[in-house]
Amino acid sequence: MNTTPDKTEILNWLRETNAERLAELWRRADETRRQHVGDAVHLRGLVEISNFCARQCAYCGLRMGNENLVRYRMLADEIFAAAQQAVKFGYGTVVLQAGEDYGITTEWLAEVVRRIKSETPLAVTLSLGERSNKDLAAWRAAGADRYLLRFETSDRNLFDEIHPPLGNRECDRIEILRRLREFGFEVGSGIMVGIPGQTFASVAKDIELFRELDLDMIGIGPFIPHPATPLGSGFKIFPPVNGEQVPNNELMVYKAVALTRLVRPDANIPATTALATINKKNGRELGLQRGANVFMPNLTPLKYRRLYEIYPNKACIAETGDACNGCLGLRIKGIGRHIGSGAGGRRDRQMLPEFEAGKEFCHA
Ligand code: 5AD
Ligand code: FES
Repeated sequence: MNTTPDKTEILNWLRETNAERLAELWRRADETRRQHVGDAVHLRGLVEISNFCARQCAYCGLRMGNENLVRYRMLADEIFAAAQQAVKFGYGTVVLQAGEDYGITTEWLAEVVRRIKSETPLAVTLSLGERSNKDLAAWRAAGADRYLLRFETSDRNLFDEIHPPLGNRECDRIEILRRLREFGFEVGSGIMVGIPGQTFASVAKDIELFRELDLDMIGIGPFIPHPATPLGSGFKIFPPVNGEQVPNNELMVYKAVALTRLVRPDANIPATTALATINKKNGRELGLQRGANVFMPNLTPLKYRRLYEIYPNKACIAETGDACNGCLGLRIKGIGRHIGSGAGGRRDRQMLPEFEAGKEFCHA
């Protein structure tokens, strides 16, 4: 029988190293995924619309202090063209992501969203950082369906160290997540695994927080050091905690993904690009077989894509939308799954009382 792990079990699983025991965790996560969200893998076309950022996060290559990065902001027409590519490939969702770029103004983005919503059948997800209530409400009113904002770590001291405030503005991502839900967005969050100073107990708390917050999407990836950032250039923000530092490796990410599936059986959980970056061969497939049910192919025009360098050596950095689309179709088929149809929102599923796993139309 599949029971949901409690706090102690979560911590024990995070520390588990025995491959046979871990095989049991993978099996439980995969079975829970199959029962609750089925065999469909939902595709979200990712468009990285700007790499400007007002923040100074100690982990992220887009931080304002990285003066060597050439900055870009896509034109509205370019964003719309990328959305049309998503339609052409049969994706149900387009994700517009950027650094926290205040050059992206309330009305300009509202117009972009309105155009995509009125001229395509796509669900629109935004991932634009800690924006004001006014912005979030306006974008929701323009038709945006979902918003992603990772809390990165539930350890408040660690978060404050790696995520300095903007001016004297208070930052409480959990509060923003609550507000996003009030505005009527489907809400996504997530963490990085293996941040310097992050302990096993702290990742266990992150997973507990996933259980508590009624999140629709949960993204989990490894922390990947970027040499142009404090955390990637040897600067120790926290002294290493003896034996308690969580490694930023693949195995830890699979454990966190699998446990997240057990605590949030019906959430949408992507096999993230960061995971694919540390195992380009089959990280995505293993993610999908250990709890994940979503994939985010990159639709950013190639001339911009290499500039969206959150971390180095990103997977799929040189693939056109067509190449990426063909490749992922094969990957999904290769593990006996199929591509989901429609927007693939959690709410869509909740509105279908008799949702049956595997009954969706297959494009593959
Ligand atoms: N390594 C891995 N993930 C990172 N992100 C930012 N910087 C890094 C890094 N160096 C993730 C954060 C952010 C998301 C958009 O990318 O979790 O929320
Ligand atoms: Fe992007 Fe394979 S999934 S190139």
